[in-house]
Amino acid sequence: MPQTVLVTGGAGFIGSHTCVELLGRGHDVVVLDDHSNSSPEALERVAKIAGRPIAAAHVGDVRDRRSLDAVFTSHRIDAVIHFAAKKAVGESVRLPFTYYDINVGGTTALVSAMHDHGVHRLVFSSSCSVYGDATTVPLTEESPTAPTNPYAATKWTCERVLADLCRHAPEFRVLALRYFNPTGAHPTGLLGEDPRGVPNNIMPFLSQIAVGRRDELSVFGDDYPTPDGTGVRDYIHVVDVAEGHRVALDHIDDEPGMRVLNLGTGQGASVLDLVRAFEEASGRPIPYRVTGRRPGDVAELVADPSKVAALWDWRARRDLGAMCRDAWNFQERNPYGYAP
Ligand code: WQD
Repeated sequence: MPQTVLVTGGAGFIGSHTCVELLGRGHDVVVLDDHSNSSPEALERVAKIAGRPIAAAHVGDVRDRRSLDAVFTSHRIDAVIHFAAKKAVGESVRLPFTYYDINVGGTTALVSAMHDHGVHRLVFSSSCSVYGDATTVPLTEESPTAPTNPYAATKWTCERVLADLCRHAPEFRVLALRYFNPTGAHPTGLLGEDPRGVPNNIMPFLSQIAVGRRDELSVFGDDYPTPDGTGVRDYIHVVDVAEGHRVALDHIDDEPGMRVLNLGTGQGASVLDLVRAFEEASGRPIPYRVTGRRPGDVAELVADPSKVAALWDWRARRDLGAMCRDAWNFQERNPYGYAP
C-alpha cells in the first residue's frame, strides 16, 4: 500500500537514495533536513531520477519540536525513516557532546513528536559500529555489542531508548537497521556522497583524490590483525541500502516492538583491497601513505546478513566493483559534488 513517509536527513547520502527508492515504489515522501551535511540540490536530483518530486521539503533541525510539529500537522505521516544524525567515527571522538546532542537528542525529540501525533512506525538508522572491536566475524544481530567510540555509543543508546519505549508504548513498531559501510552512488551519476569539508569516510576521499581534489590517502594503520594489516569492512552499495529500507517498510507491521537487523553483504574488504578496486574502476592511481591508527577504529566489521535474507527474502546484490564504478561516475560528473 502506498504510504506517506517522513525521511529525516532525506537530502543526505543514504537519505536521498532512499527517497528515490520510495518514490519509485509509489510512496509519497516528505523530507526534514537542516542541510548541515547535505544540499537541497540532492532533492532536485531525486525528482529527476524518480520522474516526480517529493511531496514537501521542510528545512529544520530534528531536535527542534516546532519543526517536527510543523511536519506532522502539515502531512498525514504513515511512517518515519530517521537518517538525520552525525555519522563519522573519527569526528565523534573529537566531538562527543555534539554527537550525543544530535544523535540521541534528535532521536528522542523525533519519537516524542511521533507519539504525540499518533505516528508509530519507525525505521531507525543504526550502525554496525555498535559491535565494537568484534572478536568473531561475521557478526549476527545476537553478537555482543561494545561501542568503542561516541558515534557507536550514540547509536547503541538510541537502540536501548527505542526498545524501552516500545515496551511502554506497544503500538510502536521500530526496525533498527545496523548498516555496515554504505558506499557507492546512484548509477545515473546524479546522486552520490558529497560530504562537507575533508571527507571522514574512505570512499569519498578516494574519489576526491582521483578527481584531483586531494593528494594522497592516509591509510590509518597497517598493524591490525587482518590479512594485510589494514582495516576490514563490509561495504554495501548505497542503492542496496536504500532498497533495504523500502523492504523494511513493507515488513514493519510484521511484529510489534523493536527488531534489530544487519544491513550488510557478508563480504569483507580491507583498505588496500578498496584502493585497488577503486584504481581499477577509475583508471586513476591512488597514492597513499600508511599512518597511525585512527582513534575509535576497530580491525574488522563484517555482517552475517542471513536474518534479513530469511525474514524478508532480500539480499544486497551489488559488489565492490559496482560501488567503486558508481562512486567514480558520480565524482567525475560532479567534481565538486552538488556545489554549482
Ligand atoms: C573505513 C576504513 C578506516 C578514511 C563508517 C561510517 C559509519 C558507519 C560505519 C553507517 C577504516 C579506513 C578511512 C581514511 C583510512 N556507517 N580509512 N583512511 O569508520 O568504518 O564507519 O561505516 O552507519 O557511519 O562512518 O568508515 O570509511 O571512515 O573507514 O584508512 O582517510 O577505512 O580506518 O578501516 P567506518 P570509514
